[in-house]
Amino acid sequence: MESNNQDWLTEQEKFWSQDFGDEYTHRNQGDSLLSGNLSLFAKILARTQKVKSLIEFGANRGINLEAIEQLVPDIKLSAIEINNVAVEELRKSSDIEIYHQSILDFTPHRSWEFVLIKGVLIHINPNYLDEVYDRLYQSSHRYICLVEYYNPTPVEVTYRGHQGKLFKRDFAGEMLDKYKNLQLVDYGFVYHRDCHFPSDDLTWFLLEKTL
Ligand SMILES: C[S@@+](CC[C@H](N)C(=O)[O-])C[C@H]1O[C@@H](n2cnc3c(N)ncnc32)[C@H](O)[C@@H]1O
Repeated sequence: MESNNQDWLTEQEKFWSQDFGDEYTHRNQGDSLLSGNLSLFAKILARTQKVKSLIEFGANRGINLEAIEQLVPDIKLSAIEINNVAVEELRKSSDIEIYHQSILDFTPHRSWEFVLIKGVLIHINPNYLDEVYDRLYQSSHRYICLVEYYNPTPVEVTYRGHQGKLFKRDFAGEMLDKYKNLQLVDYGFVYHRDCHFPSDDLTWFLLEKTL
C-alpha cells in the first residue's frame, strides 16, 4: 500500500506523508545545504572512531546521507522515510537501503554503528517519543546522533502556520536519563548567521553506548 493512503497513528505522520511533506522535499535541496552538512558532519564524525554503517531516521531526499557518503565513501547507508516523494529521490541513489515506512512502525531487526536523526524528533507526536527513543537505542550498537531544536523544557511552537507540528525539548537529556549505558561524547550548535556554513539553528548531541 502506498504510505500516504494509510491510517496513521498520529496526525503528524499524516502531515509528513502528504502535501506538506511533498513540498518540503521539493524545497530541501541545493549546494548551500550540502556544504553546511559537510561542515556539520565533518565535526561530528571527527569525534567518532571509524564508522562503517549508518541509518538515518527521517532521511527525506537524502541530503545528510549525501554529505556523509562524501566524507566516508565506503560507509553502508540506510534510511527510514515516510514520504513517497522523498523515497523516490532516495531511490535514485542505488546504494541506500530504504525502509519506506513510519518510524513508529519500524522494528529494528539488526543494528548499525551510527544512528542519526536530524530535524525529526521535533515533529514526532510527544506521546510517542518514548517509543522512538527505544527504536533509536535498539538500532544502534555504538553511536546515536541527535540534531534537533533544543529547549530545556518541552514547548510547542507554530511551524509554518501549523499547530501541533513542532515541539522542542531536551531530547538528548531525556535519552541519557532513560538509558544508563549512554554517555555524552560531544555536543554543539550550528547557527544561521555562520559566515561560511549558515544552517538552520540546530543543536547536535553525539551519544555513545558504553558496556
Ligand atoms: C524536517 S524534515 C528533516 C529531513 C532530514 N532529516 C534533514 O535533516 O534534511 C523531517 C523528515 O522526517 C520525515 N518524517 C517525519 N515523521 C516521520 C515518521 N514518523 N516516520 C518516518 N519519517 C518521518 C519527513 O517526511 C521528512 O522527510
